[in-house]
Amino acid sequence: MNSTKSIHDSVAEAYAKAVVAPKSSGCCGGGTPKGVLAKVAGYQREELAKLPADAVVNSFGCGNPLAFSDVRPGDVVLDLGSGAGIDLLIASEKVGPTGRVIGVDMTDAMIERARANIATAGITNVEVRKGLIESLPVESSSVDWVISNCVINLSPDKPHVFAEIARVLRAGGHMRVSDVVVEDLPLSIRQSQSLYGCCVAGAVSESAYLQGLRDAGMVDVEVRDRAVYTAAQLRALAGSEVLNDPAAAEMLGTLEGKVWSAIIVARKP
Ligand SMILES: C[S@@+](CC[C@H](N)C(=O)[O-])C[C@H]1O[C@@H](n2cnc3c(N)ncnc32)[C@H](O)[C@@H]1O
Repeated sequence: MNSTKSIHDSVAEAYAKAVVAPKSSGCCGGGTPKGVLAKVAGYQREELAKLPADAVVNSFGCGNPLAFSDVRPGDVVLDLGSGAGIDLLIASEKVGPTGRVIGVDMTDAMIERARANIATAGITNVEVRKGLIESLPVESSSVDWVISNCVINLSPDKPHVFAEIARVLRAGGHMRVSDVVVEDLPLSIRQSQSLYGCCVAGAVSESAYLQGLRDAGMVDVEVRDRAVYTAAQLRALAGSEVLNDPAAAEMLGTLEGKVWSAIIVARKP
């Protein structure tokens, strides 16, 4: 895994496959049934029951960035790597008819699926734009909230993502993301292509994540919640592409206690 472009291409390919895979498939194409991750990611049962079933089945997040958020009616929310749209739909209800929600994703199949789910939900305050989170198709100082769910770990250029978050937020605007962070990943895991697409190999440590946000000019940077993955949860996150690759499966087995999902918050001064 070298150039930025080859990483974007292989991640987009993994998620294009995942969104069209049958319901019995996991995040990266096998293993735990799709939709199970949403149920363990911190969404309320009632919250999920209101959404189109497809948005829940094709949820590939690792937390619920909008839980306990202070998003208000009239706010503008931007979701980085919006996937099939689960958090766009939840944000839509929070901001109401006077607010707006924008999703950005690079994968055509995901964008199509999100637009279909938005149409099924019958809502008009959400739009999805095609683009990269390292170079957002969004005006500077135009959004109140940046959210994201299990995406920034997949970026080969995190300093640019953090700089883009700081650029698009209005002064005083907030970031609230759920993401995978890791401690002490051996080089062999960092270089594993199959462990990259499933949100492990590209993840950085919590302290590097927080420092990256501070370097981009964000303040009040902190971790609000953590869920450390068990070995079974790591296998669920990975899916069959990893589990069918003996070397990757063995590496995954060494990671218990070293990988967790964190809710990370920050504010633009
Ligand atoms: C793990 S899925 C999460 C999707 C969604 N946030 C959710 O919770 O279901 C990652 C998503 O991020 C998108 N993505 C990954 N890297 C990206 C990048 N550099 N720029 C734009 N989209 C990206 C993928 O296409 C995919 O839809």
